[in-house]
Amino acid sequence: MHDSHSAAADDALKIPAEGEGGLFRQSWYPICLSSEVASGQVIGRPFLDGRVVVFRTEQGDAHVVSAYCPHLGADLAVGTVRGSNVQCAFHHWQYDCTGTCVKTGIGDPPPRAARLFKFPTIERWGIVWAFNGEAPLFELPQLPYPDEQLEIRAYKWPKPFACDPWVFAANTPDMQHIKVVHKVQFSVPDPHDLVEWDPWGLQYTVKGIHQGGVEIDWRVGLRGTGFFWRHGTANGVWSAAVTGFGLPRPGEHQVYGAYIALKGPNAEQQLATLRALTERTIGEDEPLLSSIHYRHGYLTKSDRTLAKYFQLLRQYPRAHPSAAFIR
Ligand code: FES
Ligand SMILES: [Fe+2]
Repeated sequence: MHDSHSAAADDALKIPAEGEGGLFRQSWYPICLSSEVASGQVIGRPFLDGRVVVFRTEQGDAHVVSAYCPHLGADLAVGTVRGSNVQCAFHHWQYDCTGTCVKTGIGDPPPRAARLFKFPTIERWGIVWAFNGEAPLFELPQLPYPDEQLEIRAYKWPKPFACDPWVFAANTPDMQHIKVVHKVQFSVPDPHDLVEWDPWGLQYTVKGIHQGGVEIDWRVGLRGTGFFWRHGTANGVWSAAVTGFGLPRPGEHQVYGAYIALKGPNAEQQLATLRALTERTIGEDEPLLSSIHYRHGYLTKSDRTLAKYFQLLRQYPRAHPSAAFIR
């Protein structure tokens, strides 16, 4: 039996689920692959338990906005792109890249309040990302090489995982998991001591031996709850990988990612190796992440970094400013 004191203590330890109280963590989330939306096209995607569209202007810039037209609610995914605006199919109202209605089909002046919710949008590594907020609270990081020097292969994992994005993110501070499932042998006595924290996540250096005797020297890290990256060398050769955890609806995430090599004569062969590594690693996680009922009942000393990440998750800002627009 719980007394009232321990019930209150349990409440304080709870990690809020996505969608709890109508709120979602404020993070960058992948929405689609860049290759899924060509210039002059618009596509619809589920996001935050609602629906958004991604449209790419004829000039080539991608924007993520709420899907439903404020006039009578038509889905803009069945609309078209006109120059740098998205046009609703129903009565041809047009919205610019800030989400403001700038034109009606019939010529009536647009109602001043008619607007879409405009998500902060960025396109990076072949993926379109949106931030859950009016303005981003932090930026996605940059790799140590400019894009011109990189071969980037973006992918969408074939099916969604049945848990919130942060559950996958929590693999990064989960040292027990990294050792026993991914079979990384750290060459330092205690990797926990290497972890560097900031308000939006963590980074640390993994030096050790990966499967097949591959010697790795990697920086790994999280930014928010929708983004993981790692970059560094394996047997002396530099590469990188980014993984995004999209949030279509509570209790589900869709993985988008990219593996990245330096341009050069060996790039294709390296990309094949990176693809195999990506498929193996996410494949090792997939059965776990599709069936888990996450809890944190008994942590041991090897969970020191994970416990600190749980604390970050408890305090993490949650909001849903697009709620009235996307449903
Ligand atoms: S419903 Fe979109 S213009 Fe009328
Ligand atoms: Fe994992």
